[in-house]
Amino acid sequence: MTAVFINFWYPVIEGSELGDEPLQVTMLGCDFVLFRDEHGKARCLANTCMHRGGSLGHGVVRDGCIQCPYHGWQYNGDGRCVRIPSIGRDGKIPARAKVDSYPVEERYGLVFAFLGDLPEKERPPIQTIVEWDQDDWRPTMVGWEFDANMERAVENSMDPAHNEFVHPTHGFQGEREDYRVPDMEIVEEELGAYFRIVMYSPAGEKGTLKESKREAGSVEAYSGHRGPNQLWNRLHLTDEYWLHQYQFSVPVDTGRTRFWHINMRNSWLDPKVDERMDERNRATAEQDQIVLKRLRPVVPPLGTSQELLMPSDEPVRQYRRYLAGWEAKGWRIDVERMREMQKTTTVTIPSPGRRDAGNWVLNTVPLVAPHEIAAGSSSASGAQ
Ligand code: FES
Ligand SMILES: [Fe+2]
Repeated sequence: MTAVFINFWYPVIEGSELGDEPLQVTMLGCDFVLFRDEHGKARCLANTCMHRGGSLGHGVVRDGCIQCPYHGWQYNGDGRCVRIPSIGRDGKIPARAKVDSYPVEERYGLVFAFLGDLPEKERPPIQTIVEWDQDDWRPTMVGWEFDANMERAVENSMDPAHNEFVHPTHGFQGEREDYRVPDMEIVEEELGAYFRIVMYSPAGEKGTLKESKREAGSVEAYSGHRGPNQLWNRLHLTDEYWLHQYQFSVPVDTGRTRFWHINMRNSWLDPKVDERMDERNRATAEQDQIVLKRLRPVVPPLGTSQELLMPSDEPVRQYRRYLAGWEAKGWRIDVERMREMQKTTTVTIPSPGRRDAGNWVLNTVPLVAPHEIAAGSSSASGAQ
């Protein structure tokens, strides 16, 4: 399944990377422009100029508007064209001179865009980092872009069996005779599921987890997802040393993913430890990415007849059930058809403005037709 969904919040960029220059960004296989308006508020519009296809992300910001590099049309943060230089100051701007504008939020050092058309109240939320403002927790963040499918990357985080082999600091590479993945509890929540597991793990390695003074022993871990692209983990390395981690990802396309990892720690709060923390998280992510980019097929196969799943894969199955629920709502992009359309036309993600007004120039991405949500399905947003 090539699961790329509209109607979720996606991380676009770190807020500090968005200055006076606009940026062109690809997400869900479509192009967007990101810029700051006259109030410094981040704005996200479809990237293609209505006039004759200029790339707005390669234009400039003038008076809080994005100006197309081709003939200078200017669009405000709401996507409305406010200036067409060729018709002069008094020329009448047609009602169709508008591009899709997407809701934007800046939180946790990231700019998020809501890529979909749901009204505000119905939007599945950005997950809350409850420790963010608490003095006894310290955040660090690292981000990557890598060649692997986002769904595969999320499944990897929901997979307790890979640690033993992929991460030398977390497992014993199968050398322990008595190794098996312990039983786990899976809990379903509205936006996703999580599991809790107690793993046996090697002692803190010199120079990495040295500060934890951790002996080999059991680590309590929780891993969960919220929506298709948000993850959270809680690692309780000792009774006092806890890491609570949050990940936000966005498919650039089906074979490429951008990903931010926010690590909250409740010990070793000295900023000097930040770099060591980030290094460790970067190293762990690289170990994952080496495996992920070589998985075939690139996207998980449709149905499970081409895989042989074990009980430790249950969280992955569960994640897929949630994806099926969102597909049943009609939120999944028909990626193959979209690519076909993109050979001859530009398509974009429908924005909330399309619910209030018609008369748009660009086509929207084709969606897999919604089907009936099975009667009696759980609160897992129609998971089945
Ligand atoms: S293509 Fe953008 S102003 Fe002409
Ligand atoms: Fe991993």
